[in-house]
Amino acid sequence: MTSQREIRVLSTPQDLFQAAAAEIVALVSDAIRQRGRFCVALSGGSTPKSVYSILANTPSLPWDRMYFFFGDERHVPPDHPDSNYRMAYEAMLFKAPKQNVFRIHGEQDAEAAAIEYAQTLRTFFHLQPGEFPRFDLVLLGIGPDGHTASLFPGTSALDENKRLVVANWIEKFKTFRITITFPVINQATFVMFLVSGPDKSDALRQVIENESAHLPSQKIRSVDGKLLWLVDKTAASLLSSATGK
Ligand code: 6PG
Repeated sequence: MTSQREIRVLSTPQDLFQAAAAEIVALVSDAIRQRGRFCVALSGGSTPKSVYSILANTPSLPWDRMYFFFGDERHVPPDHPDSNYRMAYEAMLFKAPKQNVFRIHGEQDAEAAAIEYAQTLRTFFHLQPGEFPRFDLVLLGIGPDGHTASLFPGTSALDENKRLVVANWIEKFKTFRITITFPVINQATFVMFLVSGPDKSDALRQVIENESAHLPSQKIRSVDGKLLWLVDKTAASLLSSATGK
């Protein structure tokens, strides 16, 4: 299977959220039909929250066969306002069986949390040494600086190609973030970026149309899966007509 990239522009944020939820529901049924379960690495931040809420209100989702991981987490406890786990739990994960949710323990020492989460992935996916987990879906956002997950420009995690999870020092925030690495993301069957709002328009243009920008989000491939950009009109406003059709 060759990797395919699609950029789909939706008129409004609500259209974007609905389209993302519909795509995810389809991926859930494909994964369960083919593999008996659906494993997703959730994105944090604010954009995906509405998608998670739509999924939480989607009837007859097979929650007991859906397994939820995180692409990254802030270095905070799970009840902290900045916690990606808290955002996802309040929007959607309250619907999932507790044992199907694997949060990153951001309340711990960052390196210890990274080591522990990597072990969680190795155990769940029954990985051999040197193997990477294959998520059915990795959900991603993009920051105005072109970061994704907690893979920020100029940080050490960008060069990590062996470890599954690292503690990444983010100088501009003066804090650690715990993040899965590029090899993990790129091993996924399906990678979906959700990009909404005018503050993302320049980063999106750079990532999609400027190969020499060397931004973290440009290192996202799907080794033999699918890469789908779901963007709204305001985020796509700087894309050339050929791209943002
Ligand atoms: C996080 C995310 C991060 C996010 C982007 C976009 O922990 O914040 O993993 O990569 O997706 O920063 O965030 P917004 O959706 O809030 O714009």
